[in-house]
Amino acid sequence: MSGFERAVVVGGGMITADLILPSLYHLQRLGIVGEIEICALGSAPLRALAANAEILAAFPGQSFTAYPGLGRPVAEADPDLYARVIESMPPRQLVVVAVPDQGHHAVIMAALQADQHVLCVKPLVLKHAQALEIAATARERGLFVGVEYHKRFDRRSLVARRDYRAGRFGEFVMGEARLIEPYSYRFSNFQNWFTPEATDPFTYIGCHYVDLVYFITGLRPVEVSVAGVRRRFPNGNEGFLWSTARVRWENGALLSVTNGLGYPDLAAGSNDQGLLMYCEGEGRSGMIRHDDHDRGVGYAYLDPIGPGGSHFNYVSPDFFRLVPWEGEGMRPVGYGYQSIEAIVEAAMRVDRAGEGLPAAESLAARRGVCEEIDGKGLLATPANSAVNELVIEAARKSILADGMPVRVGRDDTDGKESGNES
Ligand SMILES: NC(=O)c1ccc[n+]([C@@H]2O[C@H](COP(=O)([O-])OP(=O)(O)OC[C@H]3O[C@@H](n4cnc5c(N)ncnc54)[C@H](O)[C@@H]3O)[C@@H](O)[C@H]2O)c1
Repeated sequence: MSGFERAVVVGGGMITADLILPSLYHLQRLGIVGEIEICALGSAPLRALAANAEILAAFPGQSFTAYPGLGRPVAEADPDLYARVIESMPPRQLVVVAVPDQGHHAVIMAALQADQHVLCVKPLVLKHAQALEIAATARERGLFVGVEYHKRFDRRSLVARRDYRAGRFGEFVMGEARLIEPYSYRFSNFQNWFTPEATDPFTYIGCHYVDLVYFITGLRPVEVSVAGVRRRFPNGNEGFLWSTARVRWENGALLSVTNGLGYPDLAAGSNDQGLLMYCEGEGRSGMIRHDDHDRGVGYAYLDPIGPGGSHFNYVSPDFFRLVPWEGEGMRPVGYGYQSIEAIVEAAMRVDRAGEGLPAAESLAARRGVCEEIDGKGLLATPANSAVNELVIEAARKSILADGMPVRVGRDDTDGKESGNES
């Protein structure tokens, strides 16, 4: 089975460097994607990507086409260039969306209208109505949209889902989750887009753990209250740089979620994260505890080469690493890679289902595979995870009202009423 001829990534920032490009390069090696093109606002992030020493060493001889070209002046920025690149693609290739959260909707819609399958980094979009619009457009055209919630592919999440659904813990009742990203993020491009009106730590990373509790238990969130702490980035822009949320679930369970951009750069990290869920059965209780921070590997380096310039680090071999393999260079391993691979393969499976069939039959066949994927619920899609957008929408309302509890509407895909109310 030959792969996608073209994969266009929109956004050339941190997530593209850390996860997307190395994953796509490996899929290119495997013949699953052909030409890789990356479009950013300007040439600066693309130059950095092209010169990334770790990526160059891991994927010798592989390269991407840059839009704008690497030789373009750094000051030149074209926010609409991606649309022209997407329009130049033959139908039913792959568009990867990796721009800041508030830009996802426009890029996804441009891709769908150009008949492209989509892989989007989380969160899909910031409004539930936009998620429904994306789901409807994708269905109408028989296209696959996968949301890259990679924590779902962490083996511990899959084991927890299997055991929870087999009734081995009882029913979730009380829990806490935390994900604190490094302080050093404050010096990155985040300064330019992580504004209070646009996003906040809960929306940015808290959504991972809300999605995970939903993924493990199947329970839906019904109310959220988020309070934030405003601080200034080094360039003077204000942002919510810390947040604490309380999420109420349909069975009355409560989850508190602590997030921030503030994990000490010199601490063994590179961040802090984990999930604790207490559950109740008949006359006894159960528990799920995931320490996603110290995964049992600690390295002390001679030189300060750890994230943030640290010597000692908890190294997670689970998320994403480039490691030696039988082939040339290095290969990516971990749930970050597996999540990208699974979404790209799902898009290909959808596409191949319609190959060689007359238009109407091809559309029906592609829709059929999409519905099967939606129903299985392992890969997050706009149709099966739009509850996340309801939570985000409610959370944004809540944090801007200093923690006011906001009801999370029911997902339309359930056939119930939708929308949020405070
Ligand atoms: N754990 C995760 O799943 C995870 C981690 C980090 C980031 N993300 C998500 O990835 C997205 C990007 O985050 P990041 O950390 O890479 O941000 P970043 O600020 O480092 O990079 C953003 C990139 O988008 C590009 N861009 C912005 N507007 C554009 C436009 N109109 N056309 C083309 N390119 C445009 C910028 O040039 C830049 O290269 C966010 O939605 C974020 O939430 C997910």
